[in-house]
Amino acid sequence: MNILITGTSSGIGEALALHFSDNSEHCVVWIDRISRNAWWELLTADLSDTDSIQSVFPMNRVYDLVILNAWVWYFWGLEEVSIQENRTMISVNLLAHITLLSLLSTHGNLTKNAMVIAIGSQAGKHLYSWWAAYQATKWWLRWFIGSIRKEWKEKSIFLLHPNIVDTNFFRHTKTGTLPPHLPKTQKNDIIQCVDDIILWKIKQWEIDC
Ligand SMILES: NC(=O)c1ccc[n+]([C@@H]2O[C@H](COP(=O)([O-])OP(=O)(O)OC[C@H]3O[C@@H](n4cnc5c(N)ncnc54)[C@H](OP(=O)(O)O)[C@@H]3O)[C@@H](O)[C@H]2O)c1
Repeated sequence: MNILITGTSSGIGEALALHFSDNSEHCVVWIDRISRNAWWELLTADLSDTDSIQSVFPMNRVYDLVILNAWVWYFWGLEEVSIQENRTMISVNLLAHITLLSLLSTHGNLTKNAMVIAIGSQAGKHLYSWWAAYQATKWWLRWFIGSIRKEWKEKSIFLLHPNIVDTNFFRHTKTGTLPPHLPKTQKNDIIQCVDDIILWKIKQWEIDC
């Protein structure tokens, strides 16, 4: 299986990349901002910049599975997040996914029955304070993925909604810790969910995990 994953330098993307790289039946290619993980095939692009995304094309592979994972986050009150930070969040969390899928399809880099798995969030379904603009990006992503699924009938499109996952990002928020009152998802739960999707064990397109 040829697999493309975005944002594998840490967290969920890294865990997924390591998981698939362990299996010699898979060829894993990832898109990261900086060339760090030199242990597998790597494309570098700044996903906040559409020209940079375009620069990785043409690609010489046709993918069976694309995992849209990369994101950025600025979790503070609206007045404390700069205009540029909001723009970057919209670019990386939404526009990059739209641009990448559009280019992959246009350039013939997806198999006819390719799977696409986007990593959304419970924040795209439930409302919380202090994450307003970030939540908007996940809500938009939900509608984009749901809609493209209706357009690409031969492909299989999924959206995962994890709870809080213990990755690096909460350490950079105001509190510096995981919110204790919110439910948690383990990285392994997400890996299991992706494995189940590949094995056709999951029928619904939106998955709480
Ligand atoms: N962690 C959670 O609690 C949680 C909960 C629900 C959903 N999610 C979703 O899960 C996904 C992964 O989250 P995570 O916590 O694993 O994230 P993470 O550890 O912060 O990793 C984010 C990845 O995105 C990459 N990235 C950011 N900006 C980029 C850019 N401009 N160009 C290219 N790559 C860029 C980062 O690369 P750099 O190292 O270069 O910045 C990194 O590899 C996200 O879609 C997130 O919304 C997470």
